[in-house]
Amino acid sequence: MGNNVLKAEKLFGLLGHPVGHSMSPAMHNDQFEKQGLPYFYHAFDVDPRDLKEAVEGMRALGISGFNVTVPHKVEIMSYLDEIDEEAQIIGAVNTVVNKKGRWIGYNTDGKGYVQSLLTKTGKGLHDYNILVIGAGGASRAVVTSLYKYGVQSLAITNRTISKAENIRKNLGHEIEILEKEKAEIKTGEYDLIINTTSMGMSPHVNTIPWKTDVLKQGCLCSDLIYNPLKTTWLKEAEGQGADTLNGVGMFVGQGAVAFELWTGIWPDIERMSEVVLEQLRRK
Ligand code: ATR
Repeated sequence: MGNNVLKAEKLFGLLGHPVGHSMSPAMHNDQFEKQGLPYFYHAFDVDPRDLKEAVEGMRALGISGFNVTVPHKVEIMSYLDEIDEEAQIIGAVNTVVNKKGRWIGYNTDGKGYVQSLLTKTGKGLHDYNILVIGAGGASRAVVTSLYKYGVQSLAITNRTISKAENIRKNLGHEIEILEKEKAEIKTGEYDLIINTTSMGMSPHVNTIPWKTDVLKQGCLCSDLIYNPLKTTWLKEAEGQGADTLNGVGMFVGQGAVAFELWTGIWPDIERMSEVVLEQLRRK
């Protein structure tokens, strides 16, 4: 890795706070090496008060592109020259590309998720009856990209109904919004249930976002969480005969779409997953 830094022709990075546990440097640096690209990726821990200066500094240094993570995904939008349409609708940016000195912001989270979903199902999602649990930032990204991909309608349930209503207003699509009790009654109708909330994420590993006793035959339960790799909800769903998808695919997918934006090359997704799984095993 050290040699890569010395001979790197292009630099990429991550702006977040904190970034110590990020798996992105290992994932991207391995892929740069694998693709024979003399590039290097570094994680920068940037305090929210310093974000503007950090972006100006990156511009002055000629950094080629960067990812943005918590807590900067919304604030970063004020410091960019242009924002891609999907990122505008989502209202957050996680990837920035330096195009001839202009910073262009994208959001690859939702696209990365849809990509991982299609890999899992091996077919289109057009006839899927979908329930999305949660209406925070992750939900906004996933729902926006599902519609962009071509899904005709879906349902959102959230503890705070007004947040789901905001997503519908921003997207301008037909979205069914259901209180938990109403959605629960319809559980057996869904082909795909997506948990976008933090319920079940370490350290709250015993929290379950949705019941699994009345799932439709062949239902796919998809959790955006990757820590733990298999949440209690996914374990229960599996026990009920459901198919499951954990959050590694979305993490790798968002990285892959960013990698392509920066380099024009679609990366080796399987290898990226291996690197991420190795990082998670070490945690
Ligand atoms: P992210 O960017 O990861 O989506 P977020 O914007 O804070 O994070 O959104 C978290 C989502 O998880 C929200 O939908 C939140 O519900 P509220 O909108 O009602 O706050 C949901 N969530 C988190 N913890 C929850 C819990 N214990 N019960 C129900 N919903 C929960």
